[in-house]
Amino acid sequence: MSPPRKLHIKSYGCQMNVYDAQRMVDMLAPEGFVETASVDDADLVILNTCHIREKASEKVYSELGRLRGVKDEAARNGRRMSIAVAGCVAQAEGAEIIRRAPVVDIVVGPQSYHHLPQLLARAKSHGRALETEFPVQDKFGFLAPPDPEVIRARGVSSFVTVQEGCDKFCTFCVVPYTRGAEVSRPVAKIIDDVLRLADNGVREITLIGQNVNAYHGEGPDGRIWSLGDLLRRLAEVPGIARLRYSTSHPRDVDDTLIAAHRDLPALMPFVHLPVQSGSDRILAAMNRRHGADDYRRVIDRFRAARQDIAFSSDFIVGFPSETEEDFVATLALVRQIGYAGAYSFKYSPRPGTPAADMQETVSAAEMDERLVRLQELIDSQQSAFNLAAIGSTVDVLFERAARNPGQIVGRTAYLQPAHVMAPPDIIGQVLPVTIASLERYSLLGELAAAHARPASSRMADSSQMITGA
Ligand code: SAH
Ligand code: SF4
Ligand code: F3S
Repeated sequence: MSPPRKLHIKSYGCQMNVYDAQRMVDMLAPEGFVETASVDDADLVILNTCHIREKASEKVYSELGRLRGVKDEAARNGRRMSIAVAGCVAQAEGAEIIRRAPVVDIVVGPQSYHHLPQLLARAKSHGRALETEFPVQDKFGFLAPPDPEVIRARGVSSFVTVQEGCDKFCTFCVVPYTRGAEVSRPVAKIIDDVLRLADNGVREITLIGQNVNAYHGEGPDGRIWSLGDLLRRLAEVPGIARLRYSTSHPRDVDDTLIAAHRDLPALMPFVHLPVQSGSDRILAAMNRRHGADDYRRVIDRFRAARQDIAFSSDFIVGFPSETEEDFVATLALVRQIGYAGAYSFKYSPRPGTPAADMQETVSAAEMDERLVRLQELIDSQQSAFNLAAIGSTVDVLFERAARNPGQIVGRTAYLQPAHVMAPPDIIGQVLPVTIASLERYSLLGELAAAHARPASSRMADSSQMITGA
């Protein structure tokens, strides 16, 4: 048997890329590849890239520059190292990467990575390989995103992709071009994945998609299921304690999703709902197809269904023609909603998007200044949200040993990291924790009294359970 080949994979960008990277590792395992954390001894290096802002895609070329030295060094030692560029930059700039970066052997788009084994073979015989095709629709109008053969459980929490692509065409955004049209996976396949993950110890599932609440998958009953329908079914899977989904669009929040939040305790009361701006004029220029008040109403519907629900969001500052008045409307919206956290970005013109043809009107200095003001407001809301947890007892799903010896770390319903001193056998359990303090973004606490037993008595309890005594 030949020795295993080593695969180093580096992912940029969104959760979908993290998920895709894991699928590439799973897919290459039967080809004899094992993952390595170091690039130096890798036989195959994959850069799983992001095109969303200029800074993100520039990273690819600087990383490729570095890899050239590593590849030359390997060649001097008589070892062949292959380099693949995957992800959204591959999709957007495939041919240009081949032209600009001779170090690259393979370019593979997000819809084609299931062909990696064949592409590797092709690169070996022909020198280089490029594949950035989008899949074709089947007779039902469904496009098949690459379906994973195996989804391997990696710990307590797992992503499952349910939807890919986006039909919204916000004027600033590359996603509809790099990920293609909106496609939903059939319900049965998603249930299979979740059952398998639950069997392997996964307790939390995050359903992911570029516009996850546009989900409209073929159900086992022949109907089209919404995201709310899907969540309701997945909440019945034994062993799954928590469900989440990301990322949503305010326009696609339907009543089944709101009802799911009302009825399903497993559905976590924390929703990432990007709004981008609080100004109707800018929202229209962005082609968001909703106004600030529509967004407020969506938030109200969630809150009416589930009082303890909290929100995070994404914002862009300095979109072409954004005035101080528009920006103040964004600050006002943030103040009114009150977020548990949010990401904010300076507008970055992306080639091929409609906004790239708009006159940029906000100077770099103004953009910096607006970003600071917005981030200060969001930070203060986030701190207040985290501080409010102190003194309360909250459920934590424990995920892994923390860096500090003896400590175990998990997450609250709101994804806040929470640390306790406890034996490692609590990993995988949801237990109540009384929060004592906040250190930067982490909560510190103790297992609530009934659960805080020393390791020895826990052992006695579990042996009793096993013998049925
Ligand atoms: N599908 C997700 C992810 C989009 S990208 C969604 O719809 O939310 C994540 C965030 O990046 C966006 O919400 C937006 O705030 C930001 N973003 C996208 N394009 C951008 C651009 N050209 N410049 C600056 N920020 C951008
Ligand atoms: Fe991009 Fe808009 Fe689609 Fe989100 S909804 S992926 S921002 S086009
Ligand atoms: Fe980036 Fe593509 Fe995700 S552009 S944010 S990796 S969909």
